[in-house]
Amino acid sequence: MPGDKSVSHRAIMLSALADGTSRIRGFLEGEDTRATARIFGQMGVRIDAPSPGERVVHGVGLRGLRAPEGELDCGNSGTAMRLLCGAMAGQAFDSILAGDASLSKRPMRRVTEPLSTMGARIEAPEAGTPPLRVCGGRALRGIDYESPIASAQVKSALLLAGLYAEGETFVTEPRPTRDYTERMLHAFGWPVEFGPGRVGLSGGHALRAVDVDVPADFSSAAFFIVVASIVPDSELLLRNVGMNPRRTGLLHVLRAMGADIMESNAREAGGEPVADLIVRHAPLRGIDVPVAHVADMIDEFPALFIAAACAEGVTTIRGAEELRVKESDRIAVMATGLRALGARIEETPDGAMIEGGTLHGGTVESHGDHRIAMAFAVAGAVVDGAITIRDCANVATSFPGFVELANGCGLAVHTA
Ligand code: S3P
Repeated sequence: MPGDKSVSHRAIMLSALADGTSRIRGFLEGEDTRATARIFGQMGVRIDAPSPGERVVHGVGLRGLRAPEGELDCGNSGTAMRLLCGAMAGQAFDSILAGDASLSKRPMRRVTEPLSTMGARIEAPEAGTPPLRVCGGRALRGIDYESPIASAQVKSALLLAGLYAEGETFVTEPRPTRDYTERMLHAFGWPVEFGPGRVGLSGGHALRAVDVDVPADFSSAAFFIVVASIVPDSELLLRNVGMNPRRTGLLHVLRAMGADIMESNAREAGGEPVADLIVRHAPLRGIDVPVAHVADMIDEFPALFIAAACAEGVTTIRGAEELRVKESDRIAVMATGLRALGARIEETPDGAMIEGGTLHGGTVESHGDHRIAMAFAVAGAVVDGAITIRDCANVATSFPGFVELANGCGLAVHTA
């Protein structure tokens, strides 16, 4: 499995802002994370790539970035844009954060508003979407922010701005989200207090270079966990998968549906829990997905929709309205696609009711959303006939090599 996208972004950002040289191993060679590396290159950070999956980052220190020429292109990456919004708010120079057509429709007020309360000045079009002009030279002050959204990106943007702020920055979340920023800040020597749902730090310290080992991305593994679960006679071994509890909600849900997933060789690598997973086919039953797991599996819903469509009975998803503002509206796009394959599915504002049954071939639109495309590729393993998935180039944002890996374990995915 490829390296974790969230960890790879943060590893580049923190090592670029650290004093000294950091080596990153297991870096995701995806378009999203490469965009982040390119952006720091534009701001004068030397980043060597001695081998695939490896980066050596020559940190410039918290105040060592150089004003970039031209805009900073975040491509398809919401993580790059939102986290950088926080980091750029603390710089002495102006910067423009831009993205592709999908990112240019995604909501940014969730970060620009609290950052403005910290003293940042960020100009955006009326709709609050990119491109964003982040004005430099502002004096930031810490705030105690109660976030209305369970979002690691919002939390992380504020923490990165908080590095540059006077006083303390606290973030409270309605539900705990992935805590990689706080763990990595700690590893880079920045004092940070955190527990599930609350984090705080103060400005005025320094980041010290450290090496980062990136675990395999649970969200990439999720497609293979689902395919092995739904295809009769399957058995798959997935090695070195990141098992941060804020990411593994899908394991709880699939197991409650009857999936056969064993963890072995559980260990720690680079400060993160990792394990090997052995997944065998098992008949799945529909369930009511507990709302408490939603944040811990927010990127796994496209894969879960496919599992649910192959399960016996009805699966109900609630409390997942955030899916509507991901790389696509994942509720609508999955519902439309699954219907085209013969599934019965009812959309709700914050989720869906999916009746399991037999899928048939057909044509689906991924709307340029990497996870939608991979989810329907997984469905291709259980249909009679073929599924044509349109607009798939963005699979490379998070999972370069997906097609080869999928074909290597028995799927038949052809690219046009
Ligand atoms: C991410 C947080 C999540 C997730 C995204 C990566 C991160 O987004 O969907 O793929 O690396 O912080 P939200 O914070 O918007 O939920």
